[in-house]
Amino acid sequence: MPETLTQADTRTQDFLPLDGIDHLEFYVGNAYQAAHYYRLMFGFDITGYRGLETGDKEKASYVLEQGNIRFILTTALTPDHEVARHCQLHGDGVKAIAFKVKDVDASIAAVKKRGATVEQAPTSLEDEHGKFRVATIRNYGDTIFRFVDREGYGKGFAPGFIKKETPASRSAGLAAVDHIVGNVELGAMEYWANFYKKTLGFEQLAHFTDDDISTEYSALMSKVMQNGTGKIKFPINEPAEGKKKSQIEEYLDFYVGPGVQHVAMNTKDICETVRTLRSNGVRFLRVPDTYYETLADRVGKIDEDFSVLQELGILVDRDEDGYLLQVFTQPLEDRPTLFFEIIERHGSRGFGVGNFKALFVSIEEEQKRRGTL
Ligand code: FE2
Repeated sequence: MPETLTQADTRTQDFLPLDGIDHLEFYVGNAYQAAHYYRLMFGFDITGYRGLETGDKEKASYVLEQGNIRFILTTALTPDHEVARHCQLHGDGVKAIAFKVKDVDASIAAVKKRGATVEQAPTSLEDEHGKFRVATIRNYGDTIFRFVDREGYGKGFAPGFIKKETPASRSAGLAAVDHIVGNVELGAMEYWANFYKKTLGFEQLAHFTDDDISTEYSALMSKVMQNGTGKIKFPINEPAEGKKKSQIEEYLDFYVGPGVQHVAMNTKDICETVRTLRSNGVRFLRVPDTYYETLADRVGKIDEDFSVLQELGILVDRDEDGYLLQVFTQPLEDRPTLFFEIIERHGSRGFGVGNFKALFVSIEEEQKRRGTL
């Protein structure tokens, strides 16, 4: 069973108050097309833009929103731009995880003192809507954390962006970012768990060993770190020794280094969300039919109909606090790297460890099809 540490074991002073995830920025090969992919497949509205028409000659970005989730998709307009190099090396992926904070300068001072590498010192951006303060530090691989104070900024995403009027898309009911998972190299999980603890003041919520998460062929280890309010959760995975290549190694090979493996988003009605996404053409991991044979015995009484869950391929897990429903998409691009998780929580604060094994068998089937197992 996973070892769950109590708050008293890991309590650290919250020297870094974070008001949640402000946005995720993806670096992509073609932001115009990616924006429409996330709009049409996942139900995001395109609400903002910057690019040639707004005077930016180097890059173009689209702002996508659904519920409390905000994605920025950025592409390079020139071949030697940092975004172009990032995409050539990693493919499309999450570049920045942005926190909303009240004081960017105090946040940076606090994390710098505790060992963070500051990439962009606190900077003010201004336009007719007000002032926006931002700074960044390094995370695993080429990924960064961004600190954003938008208290003094009115409408729109940020200075440099214009509001975009596009027809409202059909929402899929995605409400908020639940957790963001990183894959790091063998032996690096401990380093990053420590970094999150010492530098960001996060605490360890759970630790899964390869005994918890393994199949006949592959294994992984995971530590779940969360901030002081418990609202921001970052599991960190590393591969473990297995007979064949684990899905984490496959990711590291194709992303060419550590990065964000998946972004989990909450919904209040996972059945409706999955129906919408399926009808939009979103591809999910296949769940073996055998998974549902013992499910009722394993999770007990739940509000949902088991036959509907089976029809939609939705997974269920239960722990001492309640249960959760979850589903995983196939990778969002040709490289088998980033994917999404859709999750509906009924009390459980876990991550579906009871599903990992069934899921990995399914992922290994996909790896076999890709010839990368
Ligand atoms: Fe997850």
